[in-house]
Amino acid sequence: MIIFKEKHALKVYLATLKAQNKTIGFVPTMGALHQGHLSLIKQAQQRNDVVVVSIFVNPTQFDNKEDLAKYPKTLESDTKLLESVACDVLFHPSIEEIYHKNIVSESFDFDGLEHQMEGKFRDGHFNGVGTIVKTLFEIVEPDNAYFGQKDFQQLQIIKKMVEKHQLNLKIKGCKIFREKDGLAMSSRNVRLTKEQREIAPFIYKTLKKAKKKFSDKSADKVSKWVENQFKKEPLLKLEYFTIADEKTLETIIKKESDKKYRAFIAVFAGEIRLIDNIQLKN
Ligand code: PAF
Repeated sequence: MIIFKEKHALKVYLATLKAQNKTIGFVPTMGALHQGHLSLIKQAQQRNDVVVVSIFVNPTQFDNKEDLAKYPKTLESDTKLLESVACDVLFHPSIEEIYHKNIVSESFDFDGLEHQMEGKFRDGHFNGVGTIVKTLFEIVEPDNAYFGQKDFQQLQIIKKMVEKHQLNLKIKGCKIFREKDGLAMSSRNVRLTKEQREIAPFIYKTLKKAKKKFSDKSADKVSKWVENQFKKEPLLKLEYFTIADEKTLETIIKKESDKKYRAFIAVFAGEIRLIDNIQLKN
Protein backbone atom coordinates (compact mmCIF):
# COMPACT_ATOMS: atom_id res chain seq x y z
CA MET A 1 0.00 0.00 0.00
CA ILE A 2 1.29 3.45 -0.88
CA ILE A 3 0.63 6.20 1.66
CA PHE A 4 0.23 9.82 0.56
CA LYS A 5 -0.03 12.86 2.79
CA GLU A 6 0.13 15.42 0.02
CA LYS A 7 -2.65 15.87 -2.48
CA HIS A 8 -0.36 16.88 -5.33
CA ALA A 9 1.72 13.70 -5.06
CA LEU A 10 -1.45 11.60 -4.90
CA LYS A 11 -2.92 13.33 -7.95
CA VAL A 12 0.29 12.75 -9.96
CA TYR A 13 0.32 9.06 -8.96
CA LEU A 14 -3.36 8.54 -9.82
CA ALA A 15 -2.94 10.33 -13.15
CA THR A 16 -0.46 7.67 -14.27
CA LEU A 17 -2.99 4.94 -13.41
CA LYS A 18 -5.82 6.77 -15.16
CA ALA A 19 -3.61 7.12 -18.24
CA GLN A 20 -3.51 3.29 -18.26
CA ASN A 21 -7.36 3.27 -18.19
CA LYS A 22 -7.46 1.93 -14.65
CA THR A 23 -10.67 2.61 -12.72
CA ILE A 24 -10.46 4.15 -9.26
CA GLY A 25 -12.73 3.16 -6.36
CA PHE A 26 -12.71 5.54 -3.40
CA VAL A 27 -13.68 4.97 0.23
CA PRO A 28 -13.54 8.19 2.29
CA THR A 29 -13.30 7.59 6.04
CA MET A 30 -12.44 9.33 9.29
CA GLY A 31 -10.39 6.32 10.42
CA ALA A 32 -10.94 4.07 13.46
CA LEU A 33 -11.69 1.49 10.82
CA HIS A 34 -14.00 -1.46 11.47
CA GLN A 35 -15.57 -4.32 9.51
CA GLY A 36 -18.14 -1.91 8.04
CA HIS A 37 -15.34 0.07 6.38
CA LEU A 38 -13.69 -3.16 5.24
CA SER A 39 -16.93 -4.22 3.55
CA LEU A 40 -16.94 -0.92 1.61
CA ILE A 41 -13.32 -1.54 0.60
CA LYS A 42 -14.18 -5.09 -0.50
CA GLN A 43 -17.00 -3.81 -2.71
CA ALA A 44 -14.69 -1.16 -4.15
CA GLN A 45 -12.08 -3.85 -4.89
CA GLN A 46 -14.62 -6.01 -6.71
CA ARG A 47 -15.54 -3.27 -9.18
CA ASN A 48 -12.42 -1.12 -9.62
CA ASP A 49 -8.79 -1.66 -10.60
CA VAL A 50 -7.39 0.51 -7.82
CA VAL A 51 -8.83 1.35 -4.39
CA VAL A 52 -8.01 4.57 -2.55
CA VAL A 53 -9.01 4.99 1.11
CA SER A 54 -8.77 8.37 2.81
CA ILE A 55 -8.44 8.87 6.55
CA PHE A 56 -9.19 12.42 7.61
CA VAL A 57 -11.06 13.53 10.72
CA ASN A 58 -12.83 16.49 9.19
CA PRO A 59 -13.12 19.34 11.73
CA THR A 60 -15.80 21.30 9.86
CA GLN A 61 -18.44 18.57 10.18
CA PHE A 62 -18.32 18.51 14.00
CA ASP A 63 -20.68 20.89 15.78
CA ASN A 64 -19.36 19.69 19.12
CA LYS A 65 -15.69 20.41 19.96
CA GLU A 66 -15.51 17.62 22.53
CA ASP A 67 -16.85 15.06 20.05
CA LEU A 68 -14.10 16.13 17.63
CA ALA A 69 -11.38 16.00 20.31
CA LYS A 70 -12.50 12.54 21.46
CA TYR A 71 -13.05 11.07 18.02
CA PRO A 72 -10.93 7.87 18.04
CA LYS A 73 -7.61 8.20 16.18
CA THR A 74 -5.98 4.84 15.48
CA LEU A 75 -3.78 5.45 12.44
CA GLU A 76 -1.28 2.68 13.19
CA SER A 77 -3.85 -0.11 13.49
CA ASP A 78 -5.88 1.37 10.61
CA THR A 79 -2.79 1.21 8.37
CA LYS A 80 -2.16 -2.43 9.33
CA LEU A 81 -5.80 -3.29 8.68
CA LEU A 82 -5.71 -1.63 5.26
CA GLU A 83 -2.52 -3.52 4.41
CA SER A 84 -4.10 -6.80 5.52
CA VAL A 85 -6.96 -6.34 3.00
CA ALA A 86 -4.56 -5.29 0.19
CA CYS A 87 -5.80 -1.72 -0.10
CA ASP A 88 -3.76 0.03 -2.83
CA VAL A 89 -3.55 3.63 -1.63
CA LEU A 90 -4.06 5.45 1.67
CA PHE A 91 -4.50 9.22 1.61
CA HIS A 92 -3.93 10.71 5.06
CA PRO A 93 -3.62 14.48 4.72
CA SER A 94 -3.08 17.01 7.50
CA ILE A 95 -5.71 19.65 8.27
CA GLU A 96 -3.50 22.33 6.61
CA GLU A 97 -3.15 20.23 3.47
CA ILE A 98 -6.92 20.27 3.05
CA TYR A 99 -7.97 23.61 4.52
CA HIS A 100 -4.72 25.65 4.46
CA LYS A 101 -5.32 28.20 7.23
CA ASN A 102 -9.02 28.62 6.58
CA ILE A 103 -10.91 25.87 8.43
CA VAL A 104 -14.42 26.74 7.25
CA SER A 105 -17.14 25.03 5.23
CA GLU A 106 -18.60 25.96 1.92
CA SER A 107 -22.34 26.60 1.99
CA PHE A 108 -24.45 24.05 0.13
CA ASP A 109 -28.04 23.78 -0.99
CA PHE A 110 -29.11 20.14 -0.95
CA ASP A 111 -32.73 20.91 -1.85
CA GLY A 112 -33.85 20.67 1.76
CA LEU A 113 -32.34 17.24 2.54
CA GLU A 114 -29.93 19.04 4.87
CA HIS A 115 -32.70 20.45 7.06
CA GLN A 116 -34.05 17.07 8.22
CA MET A 117 -32.93 14.86 11.11
CA GLU A 118 -29.13 15.15 11.54
CA GLY A 119 -29.30 18.62 9.99
CA LYS A 120 -31.68 19.75 12.73
CA PHE A 121 -29.51 18.45 15.54
CA ARG A 122 -25.97 19.01 14.20
CA ASP A 123 -25.60 22.62 13.13
CA GLY A 124 -23.54 23.00 9.93
CA HIS A 125 -22.79 19.27 9.80
CA PHE A 126 -23.76 18.72 6.17
CA ASN A 127 -21.95 21.83 4.94
CA GLY A 128 -18.86 20.30 6.54
CA VAL A 129 -19.50 16.89 4.99
CA GLY A 130 -20.20 18.46 1.58
CA THR A 131 -17.02 20.52 1.77
CA ILE A 132 -14.70 17.64 2.59
CA VAL A 133 -16.31 15.09 0.29
CA LYS A 134 -16.27 17.49 -2.68
CA THR A 135 -12.64 18.41 -1.93
CA LEU A 136 -11.65 14.74 -1.73
CA PHE A 137 -13.52 13.95 -4.97
CA GLU A 138 -11.61 16.79 -6.69
CA ILE A 139 -8.31 15.35 -5.48
CA VAL A 140 -8.95 11.65 -6.14
CA GLU A 141 -11.31 11.98 -9.14
CA PRO A 142 -12.66 8.47 -8.57
CA ASP A 143 -14.93 6.52 -10.91
CA ASN A 144 -16.93 5.16 -7.96
CA ALA A 145 -17.17 6.21 -4.30
CA TYR A 146 -18.56 4.02 -1.51
CA PHE A 147 -20.60 5.10 1.52
CA GLY A 148 -22.43 3.11 4.20
CA GLN A 149 -26.20 3.32 4.60
CA LYS A 150 -25.85 3.80 8.36
CA ASP A 151 -25.41 7.47 7.46
CA PHE A 152 -28.35 7.28 5.07
CA GLN A 153 -29.01 11.03 5.10
CA GLN A 154 -25.31 11.68 4.33
CA LEU A 155 -25.52 9.20 1.45
CA GLN A 156 -28.58 10.94 -0.07
CA ILE A 157 -26.93 14.33 0.38
CA ILE A 158 -23.74 13.20 -1.35
CA LYS A 159 -25.80 11.81 -4.24
CA LYS A 160 -27.59 15.17 -4.44
CA MET A 161 -24.25 17.04 -4.45
CA VAL A 162 -22.93 14.87 -7.28
CA GLU A 163 -26.11 15.51 -9.27
CA LYS A 164 -26.23 19.27 -8.64
CA HIS A 165 -22.52 19.88 -9.24
CA GLN A 166 -22.49 17.45 -12.17
CA LEU A 167 -19.54 15.54 -10.74
CA ASN A 168 -18.33 12.73 -12.93
CA LEU A 169 -18.53 9.69 -10.64
CA LYS A 170 -20.99 7.14 -9.28
CA ILE A 171 -22.02 6.96 -5.63
CA LYS A 172 -22.57 3.47 -4.25
CA GLY A 173 -24.56 3.02 -1.06
CA CYS A 174 -23.65 -0.12 0.88
CA LYS A 175 -25.76 -1.96 3.43
CA ILE A 176 -25.30 -1.41 7.15
CA PHE A 177 -22.75 -3.72 8.74
CA ARG A 178 -23.81 -4.89 12.20
CA GLU A 179 -22.22 -6.56 15.20
CA LYS A 180 -23.60 -10.05 15.98
CA ASP A 181 -26.03 -8.51 18.48
CA GLY A 182 -27.35 -6.07 15.88
CA LEU A 183 -25.54 -2.87 16.90
CA ALA A 184 -24.66 -0.92 13.76
CA MET A 185 -20.88 -0.74 13.39
CA SER A 186 -19.50 2.71 14.07
CA SER A 187 -16.11 4.18 14.92
CA ARG A 188 -17.76 5.66 18.00
CA ASN A 189 -18.68 2.22 19.42
CA VAL A 190 -15.19 1.81 20.91
CA ARG A 191 -15.95 4.71 23.24
CA LEU A 192 -18.93 2.94 24.87
CA THR A 193 -18.47 1.68 28.42
CA LYS A 194 -19.14 -2.02 29.06
CA GLU A 195 -22.60 -1.21 30.39
CA GLN A 196 -23.45 1.10 27.49
CA ARG A 197 -22.18 -1.47 24.97
CA GLU A 198 -24.41 -4.12 26.55
CA ILE A 199 -27.54 -2.01 26.23
CA ALA A 200 -26.75 -0.43 22.81
CA PRO A 201 -28.28 -3.32 20.73
CA PHE A 202 -31.62 -2.14 22.15
CA ILE A 203 -31.56 0.51 19.41
CA TYR A 204 -31.70 -1.96 16.53
CA LYS A 205 -34.07 -4.29 18.42
CA THR A 206 -36.48 -1.37 18.78
CA LEU A 207 -36.10 -0.43 15.11
CA LYS A 208 -36.98 -3.99 14.08
CA LYS A 209 -40.08 -3.96 16.30
CA ALA A 210 -41.05 -0.53 14.95
CA LYS A 211 -40.78 -1.94 11.42
CA LYS A 212 -43.26 -4.71 12.32
CA LYS A 213 -45.65 -2.24 13.94
CA PHE A 214 -45.53 0.07 10.91
CA SER A 215 -47.22 -2.61 8.76
CA ASP A 216 -50.58 -1.95 10.50
CA LYS A 217 -50.09 1.22 12.58
CA SER A 218 -49.64 4.88 11.74
CA ALA A 219 -46.21 6.51 11.80
CA ASP A 220 -47.39 8.64 14.70
CA LYS A 221 -48.42 5.62 16.78
CA VAL A 222 -45.14 3.84 16.03
CA SER A 223 -43.14 6.95 16.97
CA LYS A 224 -44.96 7.29 20.28
CA TRP A 225 -44.38 3.60 21.01
CA VAL A 226 -40.63 4.01 20.34
CA GLU A 227 -40.45 7.10 22.58
CA ASN A 228 -42.05 5.10 25.41
CA GLN A 229 -39.64 2.21 24.97
CA PHE A 230 -36.68 4.54 25.44
CA LYS A 231 -38.20 6.05 28.58
CA LYS A 232 -37.71 2.60 30.15
CA GLU A 233 -33.96 2.57 29.36
CA PRO A 234 -32.10 4.98 31.65
CA LEU A 235 -28.73 4.40 29.95
CA LEU A 236 -30.03 5.49 26.55
CA LYS A 237 -31.47 8.90 25.73
CA LEU A 238 -33.53 9.16 22.56
CA GLU A 239 -32.69 12.29 20.58
CA TYR A 240 -35.07 11.61 17.71
CA PHE A 241 -37.01 8.83 16.05
CA THR A 242 -38.71 9.64 12.80
CA ILE A 243 -40.28 7.81 9.90
CA ALA A 244 -39.45 9.61 6.69
CA ASP A 245 -39.74 9.38 2.93
CA GLU A 246 -36.49 7.82 1.63
CA LYS A 247 -36.25 10.34 -1.19
CA THR A 248 -37.13 13.67 0.45
CA LEU A 249 -36.24 12.59 4.02
CA GLU A 250 -39.33 14.49 5.14
CA THR A 251 -41.24 13.04 8.06
CA ILE A 252 -44.24 11.07 6.84
CA ILE A 253 -47.64 12.66 7.33
CA LYS A 254 -49.82 9.98 5.76
CA LYS A 255 -48.71 6.58 4.39
CA GLU A 256 -48.81 6.37 0.60
CA SER A 257 -48.45 3.00 -1.09
CA ASP A 258 -46.11 4.19 -3.88
CA LYS A 259 -43.53 5.68 -1.49
CA LYS A 260 -40.56 4.10 0.25
CA TYR A 261 -40.17 4.84 3.93
CA ARG A 262 -37.35 4.43 6.41
CA ALA A 263 -37.20 4.83 10.18
CA PHE A 264 -34.30 6.92 11.49
CA ILE A 265 -33.03 7.13 15.05
CA ALA A 266 -30.40 9.02 17.06
CA VAL A 267 -29.65 8.01 20.63
CA PHE A 268 -27.18 9.13 23.28
CA ALA A 269 -25.40 6.56 25.43
CA GLY A 270 -23.81 8.97 27.91
CA GLU A 271 -22.05 11.49 25.64
CA ILE A 272 -21.73 9.07 22.73
CA ARG A 273 -24.19 9.65 19.95
CA LEU A 274 -25.31 6.62 17.97
CA ILE A 275 -27.46 6.64 14.81
CA ASP A 276 -29.18 3.86 12.92
CA ASN A 277 -31.99 3.33 10.42
CA ILE A 278 -34.12 0.61 8.88
CA GLN A 279 -36.08 0.34 5.65
CA LEU A 280 -39.83 -0.12 6.18
CA LYS A 281 -42.55 -1.90 4.26
CA ASN A 282 -45.90 -0.10 3.90
O1 PAF B 1 -18.96 9.07 7.06
C1 PAF B 1 -17.84 9.54 7.36
O2 PAF B 1 -16.95 8.86 7.88
C2 PAF B 1 -17.56 11.00 7.05
O3 PAF B 1 -18.70 11.78 7.21
C3 PAF B 1 -16.93 11.22 5.67
C4 PAF B 1 -17.87 10.82 4.56
C5 PAF B 1 -15.63 10.44 5.56
C6 PAF B 1 -16.60 12.70 5.48
O4 PAF B 1 -15.72 13.17 6.45
